[in-house]
Amino acid sequence: MRGILAYIWWLSRDVPTGVAVKGRGFMRVRLSRPADPQRGESVYVMKCAACHGSDRQGRRGANGDYLFPALWGPESFNTVDVAAYFIRQPRPDLPAKMRDWPKGGKPDEARY
Ligand code: HEC
Repeated sequence: MRGILAYIWWLSRDVPTGVAVKGRGFMRVRLSRPADPQRGESVYVMKCAACHGSDRQGRRGANGDYLFPALWGPESFNTVDVAAYFIRQPRPDLPAKMRDWPKGGKPDEARY
């Protein structure tokens, strides 16, 4: 407990009490456009390819097993019968989602 308290103290050692710290909390993300797969591709290249591979086929370890799964292509999760069955089953929708924007301003990229 002393160690944890010392760590917490150390984390906030230069922060005045009661002052809003820059970077704390969630940023408001507001897009005025629909989702853009081309931008998504450049995000993939920058943020995902290091693990999932620049050819999107995942990466295997020395023993041939996947270290990072393929996200699409012949080795990715598939659409055979069992997948076709379960992705079509009813699942809980979130009725409260209709209250996500109580003051309006629903972003264009929202899918509902
Ligand atoms: C630091 C490495 C790393 C990075 C970076 C990374 N991933 Fe992954 N990702 C993994 C690993 C490892 C798994 C498998 C996790 C498991 O099976 O528990 C995985 C699993 C996945 C899966 C599930 C695939 C499946 O067949 O179940 C998806 C989808 C995915 N990642 C998307 C992304 C996207 C999109 C990005 C970039 C925004 C990304 N990942 C960045 C390591 C990474």
